[in-house]
Amino acid sequence: MIKKVAVLPGDGVGKEVTKGAVDVLKVVAQRFNHQFEFTYGLIGGAAIDEEGTPLPIHTVETCKQADAVLLGAVGGTKWDELPSHMRPERGLLAIRKELDLYANLRPVTYYDSLVDSSPLKKEYIEGVDFIIVRELTGGLYFGKPSERRTEGSKEAVVDTLFYKRDEIERIIRQAFEMAVNRRKKVTSVDKANVLESSCLWREIAAEVAKEYPDVELEHMLVDSAAMQLIRNPQHFDVVVTENMFGDILSDEASMLTGSLGMLPSASLTVNGPSLYEPVHGSAPDIAGQNKANPIAAILSAAMMLRYSFGLEEEAKVIEQAVENVLNAGHRTADLANGLHYLSTEKMVEAIVDVIADDSAIVNIMTAYS
Ligand code: IPM
Ligand code: MN
Repeated sequence: MIKKVAVLPGDGVGKEVTKGAVDVLKVVAQRFNHQFEFTYGLIGGAAIDEEGTPLPIHTVETCKQADAVLLGAVGGTKWDELPSHMRPERGLLAIRKELDLYANLRPVTYYDSLVDSSPLKKEYIEGVDFIIVRELTGGLYFGKPSERRTEGSKEAVVDTLFYKRDEIERIIRQAFEMAVNRRKKVTSVDKANVLESSCLWREIAAEVAKEYPDVELEHMLVDSAAMQLIRNPQHFDVVVTENMFGDILSDEASMLTGSLGMLPSASLTVNGPSLYEPVHGSAPDIAGQNKANPIAAILSAAMMLRYSFGLEEEAKVIEQAVENVLNAGHRTADLANGLHYLSTEKMVEAIVDVIADDSAIVNIMTAYS
């Protein structure tokens, strides 16, 4: 198989972890006889520095010409003082809109070997396996007006939560489609006791549910969902929610696995390339220190193989390699509880070695310690 992958490393640890993900894709290509061609583009702060804009036009073109996009992270203290329309994060929002990446899948998976890295007790997190389906191109992130203004002589501000029926319907349908192949349960998260947008969301969820008689639908208020994610995370299978709620709940959910550094994501579109990126940000506090956990980016590459290229076996090989390396006791700093840890590069090397040769796991027990 020959595929073009656009790589947008972005800022901070984004650069380090995407390099790791590309190394992993290269070894997968070798082992399975595929050809992945990588083309690079600037986004976020890196693009502001070089080109004066967080999303240059030719970055968009590079993405559109590719079969899939691999992204690192954007943002950093250096650009914090810029006006909001010029910030690195704008680049990320703009590429989501440009490519119509409406469905953001964020799987939350329990790893036996990481049980001590999670702040939660084992009996609560054991076997946790759910996926957050976050709407990604609407809601408060994109609604207009969004501005500062003057009311009378006083400073005021407005953001707008706007959705069209179609946008709600397609993301909810996406969640049901996922549930069909899982444990057949959709939790639709909203704030229908307060927000009008949530009332329509709830109505549409109930309508779509009728097309999927085998899938159970439950509605949950977002504040309650935030609590249930900690109290009873094993309860969830597919969680579907609007953009901002999904952003918040997915960071919360990452703690079930032990670290935000473990959570991958896929941002899917119907036509054109989908985009894959770790859920975590650019982590300016550890950027450039070869210390970030590359696993979220590597697992995002696995999602790319699965969802964009239909390479299920290859995706599983990556996921299994990650699990084997963790089982062998290897940790990056975020997971190490203050004990010995591997650098980003060493962790990537360990995973690459296991993908190249399954039997390498015997040796890596000692090789990277
Ligand atoms: C995420 C990030 C982004 C978001 C930021 C960087 C704009 O937090 O992907 O979760 O809020 O969507
Ligand atoms: Mn976020």
